[in-house]
Amino acid sequence: MSIYGDYIKSVIRTVPDWPQPGVNFRDITPLLQNSSAFRKLIDSFVHRYQDLELDAIAAIDARGFIVGAPLAYELGCSFVPVRKKGKLPFKTISETYTLEYGEAEVELHSDAFREGDRILVVDDLIATGGTMLAAAKLITRSGGHVVETSTIVDLPDLGGADRIREAGFNVFAVCS
Ligand code: PRP
Ligand code: ADE
Repeated sequence: MSIYGDYIKSVIRTVPDWPQPGVNFRDITPLLQNSSAFRKLIDSFVHRYQDLELDAIAAIDARGFIVGAPLAYELGCSFVPVRKKGKLPFKTISETYTLEYGEAEVELHSDAFREGDRILVVDDLIATGGTMLAAAKLITRSGGHVVETSTIVDLPDLGGADRIREAGFNVFAVCS
């Protein structure tokens, strides 16, 4: 958790039973509407990663892009989108993962990284961890070194962060 963790948590809205009964949806739009909160959020990530000599920020489609782009700009490294299937136009590599119901797939351009590049993977939220883990595996397969997987919110009751750590990747969350 970051120094601003409690504050960031306080500006994220929980919407019960959306998009389906039983789901408490963590809505980051109030955080994004609050310029001071959004600045504190990006500053939290910059503070954590500014001395780690990252080569690229790999951000997960779509809400991960909101964090990934300003972070890449601030850290002076490249921005790489990890996209949902069928969105990237060039040669891709892909990783399939299991959702609560069914399967999903994330893709990466085959020329996104150089061998050994130091990569930070970012997203807005870790629930089951399936999406983040698939992205981290994809980057590893493409020759990148995943320095950390990083998120605004972790939902610890769902065990996603534990799952990602068990697979050998570091996990950081601004709040949980
Ligand atoms: C949400 C969220 C994460 C993922 C977390 O993305 O932004 O990427 O689910 O769930 P998991 O840990 O169980 O994999 P969603 O697919 O809803 O896409 P969006 O960002 O386009 O809204
Ligand atoms: N993605 C998966 N579970 C979610 C949740 N509870 N809130 C926001 N995004 C999610």
